[in-house]
Amino acid sequence: MIFTTCGNSEKVAKVLARKLNAVFSPMQISSFPDGEIYLRFNAEMKGKKLIIVQSFQPDANKSLFQILVAAETAHNLGAKKVILAAPYLGFMRQDKQFNSGEAITSKIMGKHLSMCLDKIITIDPHLHRYKSLADVFSIPHKILTANLLIAEYIQKKIKNAVIVGPDWESYQWAEEVAMKIGAEASCLEKTRFSSRKVRVKMVKPVPLLGRNCVLVDDIISTGNTMAEAAKKVKSLGAKTITAIGIHGLFVDGTKKLYNAGINTIVTTNCIEHETNEIDVTSLLLEELKKEK
Ligand code: R5P
Repeated sequence: MIFTTCGNSEKVAKVLARKLNAVFSPMQISSFPDGEIYLRFNAEMKGKKLIIVQSFQPDANKSLFQILVAAETAHNLGAKKVILAAPYLGFMRQDKQFNSGEAITSKIMGKHLSMCLDKIITIDPHLHRYKSLADVFSIPHKILTANLLIAEYIQKKIKNAVIVGPDWESYQWAEEVAMKIGAEASCLEKTRFSSRKVRVKMVKPVPLLGRNCVLVDDIISTGNTMAEAAKKVKSLGAKTITAIGIHGLFVDGTKKLYNAGINTIVTTNCIEHETNEIDVTSLLLEELKKEK
């Protein structure tokens, strides 16, 4: 087994390699003067199982192309199996044509990755309109979830928490986390007007006055969903607000979240960020042990 990365998720990849007594071999990726990708493996691939650990952030487009080139090259060099362990799988929010003429990028990504990978492992992918990853990939796939780790974090750090999903899509995570620790769960309803404009309202009322509110969502991208949700629960009397995101992209930074009244932001290390408090390496480790 050889572990590598295309640049993202290096810390996780190194820990996995060490714990599985495998080699971590960084590949060489750079650009030719005209900007085209240059990629070279430093380790012998023949007969090996290659695990590419790579989140699709930062830079989802670049990551996707790098993974395609790396996987195809590994096969050409004789690798026996190429597995992508993507803690954060990108493109999944574009799961339908919202407007005519649009590309359904999740489908395109799935089609092309399925042609050059043997398996994909990911953590809490954004399954909204898709029922399963089989709607996207035609290769074996495994979904892992950080819900238990999130529940343990809340149990350890936040007393008397009430869990709130900022929209119905996130309620699947909020509800499951709440169930695991026997907490109350509620949900807001979100209307999205554009990538950066959302409005939320409370549809599943639960008393929030003086309570420690934990907002749980799968993705924090621009942060507007979390910010609007925070303003709402604050106006309903929440004493403290913790925002937990599985995948913290923070494309606009974190300032607007704190300005909206959030006291603490917590993410998993599916995407490396200073807010990482929940380590998902153990999830990947258990799954990859089966590949040894
Ligand atoms: C909904 O599609 C997701 O669960 C998140 O709520 C969404 O991705 C958050 O996006 P943003 O941070 O840009 O509001």
